[in-house]
Amino acid sequence: MEIIEIKKDQQQYISEIAALESDIFPDPWSEKSIRDTLENPQARIWAIISRQAPPCSCASTAPEHASETAASCASTAPEHAGKPQLLGYVIFYYVLDEGEIARIATSPQHRRQGVAVRLLEKMRAFSYEQNITRWLLDVRISNETAIHFYKAAGFAKDGVRKNFYANPPEDAILMSCEVETSGSDRA
Ligand SMILES: CC(C)(COP(=O)(O)OP(=O)(O)OC[C@H]1O[C@@H](n2cnc3c(N)ncnc32)[C@H](O)[C@@H]1OP(=O)(O)O)[C@@H](O)C(=O)NCCC(=O)NCCS
Repeated sequence: MEIIEIKKDQQQYISEIAALESDIFPDPWSEKSIRDTLENPQARIWAIISRQAPPCSCASTAPEHASETAASCASTAPEHAGKPQLLGYVIFYYVLDEGEIARIATSPQHRRQGVAVRLLEKMRAFSYEQNITRWLLDVRISNETAIHFYKAAGFAKDGVRKNFYANPPEDAILMSCEVETSGSDRA
């Protein structure tokens, strides 16, 4: 698994994220809203991908390699690495010492394998670099899986905002998480 930052010229990933949005969320972000977000210098979209190694021709052309698996070949020959598969992504904003998670999602086939937690770990490292000391988010009150996930990651409930969401209408739980950075203890 590898984490990459999505850039505005990466149309393939933008389409794949929009497709996952449609599969997962009742109020999905469109390709346009994803592209617009990538225009914002205070926003980031990171994706976690895996590169499946395709069948390798080494074994057929070089008998001495016959016992090598495609995976071991791909690890030594990057040009043999397969098409990247999108496992999950996070969309977030940050201004000064505060960040906000707008979306985080893992493809249904790859859940409970630590994908989303890997994204949060990278965000923690980013917090240290940028001196972000507090992360905020809102989550639909019915989304118990996400609430469990955020609590496990150290987020605490701050309150409820009535009728925060449309499509369908629903209350939001507001959550936040403090991060200690080198800047946090500055006077
Ligand atoms: C919430 C979501 C992003 C979690 O992604 P994930 O990659 O499956 O999460 P991880 O495997 O990294 O889980 C980390 C921890 O979160 C908690 N967790 C994750 N899914 C959980 C579930 N279904 N039930 C209870 N706890 C859960 C667990 O503590 C888990 O650790 P463990 O597996 O060691 O017990 C994923 O379920 C998802 O995409 N949901 C739909 C989109 C969504 O609702 N996003 C949040 C609102 S934007």
